[in-house]
Amino acid sequence: MEQTLSIIKPDGVRKNIIGDVIRRFESRGLTVIAMRMLQMTKQEAQGFYAVHKERPFFDSLTDFMSSGPVVVMVLEGPDAIALNRKIMGATNYEEAEEGTIRKDFASSIESNVVHGSDAPETAKTEIAYFFSSLDIMA
Ligand code: TYD
Repeated sequence: MEQTLSIIKPDGVRKNIIGDVIRRFESRGLTVIAMRMLQMTKQEAQGFYAVHKERPFFDSLTDFMSSGPVVVMVLEGPDAIALNRKIMGATNYEEAEEGTIRKDFASSIESNVVHGSDAPETAKTEIAYFFSSLDIMA
């Protein structure tokens, strides 16, 4: 069993597809074991995406991520990190496989509906960014 952090980004919440996104995770064997809705401040978004702070898209990305409410979740399942990223699809929705969340719902490389941790170490850090151990129904 593995755990990963998933975020339904502000565009996903605005598009009213929280249910669709969660159904795709659950129907593929991922279980929600923690969940919360919140709106990040610009500073919190900068902290979350600190790894990208030198990238040209950082300012726009953190404006976007703090532009409205998000749904943060911990997903659990066998191979949860890779499976979540497979269900999400490629960062650039134009390159995402058919049937992925980003292919079906994203509207730009930035407004790409979902975030998912990319490795065990980042999953651990990202889960701890939003949840305490008591929040997680492991
Ligand atoms: P990244 O961690 O590379 O992708 P992923 O979300 O698939 O793990 O990038 C983080 C987010 O930054 C990405 O979801 C959307 C945004 N982004 C841009 O706006 N422009 C870009 O050129 C890239 C690479 C990412």
